[in-house]
Amino acid sequence: MNLKVVAVVPAAGSGKRLGLKKRLKKPFVLLGGRPLISYALAALESSKVIDGIVVAVEKSNIGRLKALIKRYGFAKVTDIVIGGSTRFESVRNCLKRVGPSFDIVLIHDGARPFLDKTLIEEAVSLAKKHGACVTAVPESDTVKVVERDSFVKRTIDRRFICRAQTPQAFRRELINKAYAVKGGSGITDDSSLVEKLGMPVKISKGSYRNIKITTKVDLKFAEVLLCGSV
Ligand code: CTP
Ligand code: MG
Repeated sequence: MNLKVVAVVPAAGSGKRLGLKKRLKKPFVLLGGRPLISYALAALESSKVIDGIVVAVEKSNIGRLKALIKRYGFAKVTDIVIGGSTRFESVRNCLKRVGPSFDIVLIHDGARPFLDKTLIEEAVSLAKKHGACVTAVPESDTVKVVERDSFVKRTIDRRFICRAQTPQAFRRELINKAYAVKGGSGITDDSSLVEKLGMPVKISKGSYRNIKITTKVDLKFAEVLLCGSV
């Protein structure tokens, strides 16, 4: 069956942890001479399994995003949505624009520039099969649960720990149901909402290159990754 896939790209954050000057917004910060958001959009645009793209940005960035879409020829972007005050709200605003002609919703952070064909195709294929999937990598550090006052409460067995990334992909009805929960605004991971429904979430093999640009160090690291030396 030929299921239709839409990509939802939340890019309406303020990038506080990047410590940018007020007027410069994270999606438009330059990486390798190109705006950060253009990398994720380019990967989605060129993927043969993606049929449409919905992007959430801050209201003040709509003009900039439109210009970028035109400049790079991102023809699959069908909707630009105004984001909310949290990632949850931004994704929810996008989901409201996704019509019933789409069967699968793939959600990917605009702040993860190293999205590629394999990550997209794996996530879509697992969502078709299992209903919900999250891209993740095995944890490489030992993980501690910490109490108040910085004392260790216990150590978690690393073999059972994975770090969630995006893309995450879902059957449309399932992610809509998951996003209908009340009090989800603090949530930063879409698949955790599906877990709350008691539904299974499959892990899709992620990549250690698929970093999220959060701090200035990430931006430096991304420049190194772009050079292809790692
Ligand atoms: N995001 C969003 N709407 C928000 C907050 C975040 O669409 N209100 C998006 C970001 O643009 C980003 C992704 O969600 O693509 C992950 O968020 P994060 O890395 O936390 O980005 P920011 O919220 O922009 O950064 P910070 O938390 O440092 O302010
Ligand atoms: Mg944030």
